[in-house]
Amino acid sequence: MTKRFPVMKTKRLVLREVTAKDALWYFKHFNIWEIVDGQESPGPRDMKAARRELKHYFTDNFKNGTGIRWGITLKGSNDLVGSTGFYKWNKKTSQVETGYDLDPEYSGQGTMTEAMTAIIQYAFDVMKVNRIEALVSPRNKNSLRLLRGLGFRKEGTLREHDFYDGKFVDDFLFSLLKRDWQQGHR
Ligand SMILES: CC(C)(COP(=O)(O)OP(=O)(O)OC[C@H]1O[C@@H](n2cnc3c(N)ncnc32)[C@H](O)[C@@H]1OP(=O)(O)O)[C@@H](O)C(=O)NCCC(=O)NCCS
Repeated sequence: MTKRFPVMKTKRLVLREVTAKDALWYFKHFNIWEIVDGQESPGPRDMKAARRELKHYFTDNFKNGTGIRWGITLKGSNDLVGSTGFYKWNKKTSQVETGYDLDPEYSGQGTMTEAMTAIIQYAFDVMKVNRIEALVSPRNKNSLRLLRGLGFRKEGTLREHDFYDGKFVDDFLFSLLKRDWQQGHR
């Protein structure tokens, strides 16, 4: 039986499934400098790589039960402006890692806060996770602000955890527990 993808609606957004038909969006989106800046892997080199990565991070992630990644659209349009979701879902320990990306044209308007509020609620209510982790580069100020605004707490620095631009670089580890969320953050 194929699982039905959980489409969600928020005040301004529709969070929908990303399919093979979105490969051109994937190729363009993950070659936007602001999105790949600081990420370990560069964007896809060509459409073949875009199709392969899309299948891995979106389609197979959901199909294999390792997570869910939603595409973000603005109500009234089917065009994708970003994505957000979960991967590395460990059902034994009830934890998951989050990742997100937004076309810079739409940043600084509360778009990702709105999308993440919905998917976090989904993770605690439906996926029944207890802990959501986020790894972020210390220089990614927008991402740090987003996480703190959502109630994530910094746990520490993972020293030289990433390799970027020919150098080992630190990551910050953040987490959000179910009880943090329930205790009235939102
Ligand atoms: C990080 C990112 C997802 C933030 O998305 P966003 O929709 O702009 O975030 P929001 O509008 O919900 O804002 C969250 C907070 O960050 C601030 N912020 C986010 N982007 C900003 C920008 N470009 N300029 C100024 N402030 C910004 C907001 O003002 C807000 O702070 P506040 O609550 O104190 O007002 C987006 O900038 C992005 O995709 N960046 C590139 C990819 C990336 O960094 N991914 C994460 C890897 S860990």
